[in-house]
Amino acid sequence: MKYWFLLGCALLFIACNGSSTEEVKVEEVATEEKKDFEMYELSEMSAIMQHMYQLNEQLKERIENGEELGSFSESFERMLNAKMTNDKPMDDFFKTHAETFLANQRSIYENPAQAKELYNEAINSCIACHEVKCTGPITKIEKLFIK
Ligand code: HEC
Repeated sequence: MKYWFLLGCALLFIACNGSSTEEVKVEEVATEEKKDFEMYELSEMSAIMQHMYQLNEQLKERIENGEELGSFSESFERMLNAKMTNDKPMDDFFKTHAETFLANQRSIYENPAQAKELYNEAINSCIACHEVKCTGPITKIEKLFIK
C-alpha cells in the first residue's frame, strides 16, 4: 500500500500536471501536493495507459529487430470505458481519438510489411489525444517513435 502512494506521488509529476505554466505561490503548491499525495490512487485509465506504453516499447523493439509482431492486445479496448483520475468525464473528443488510436494500433498487425510507418502513426495518435487531454507524458511518449 505504501508503495502505491510513493509511486502515485512520483507519477503525478509525469502525468497530467506536468504542463502547467501558471505561476503559483510555493506555499500553495506545497498544500496542493500534500492533498494530491493523500488522495492519489492510480486510476484504471492510468493503469491501462502504462500497460499500453510497455507493450508499445516491446513492439518498437520487435519492429526494429525485424521480429514477429505478435497480435493486437484486445485489452487496449478497455480505454473506451475505463475510469479516469478524479472521475474525469469521457467526452466526444476522447472517444473519437481513442477509436482512431485503436484503429491505427490494430493496423500495424494487419500490415506487418509497413509496420514501422503504421507504428509511428499509432504513436502520433497517442500524442494527438494527449496534446488536449493530458500533456504531461508527451515527452515520454515521444521516446516510443522509431527513428
Ligand atoms: C483518446 C485519448 C488518449 C489516447 C489515444 C492515449 N492516451 Fe494516454 N492518457 C490519456 C488520458 C486522459 C490520461 C490520464 C488518465 C487519468 O487521468 O486517469 C492518459 C495518461 C497516460 C499516461 C500517464 C499514466 C499515469 O501514470 O498516470 C501515459 C504514460 C500515457 N497516457 C501514455 C499513452 C500512450 C503510450 C498512448 C498510445 C499508445 C496513449 N497514452 C494514448 C488519454 C489518451
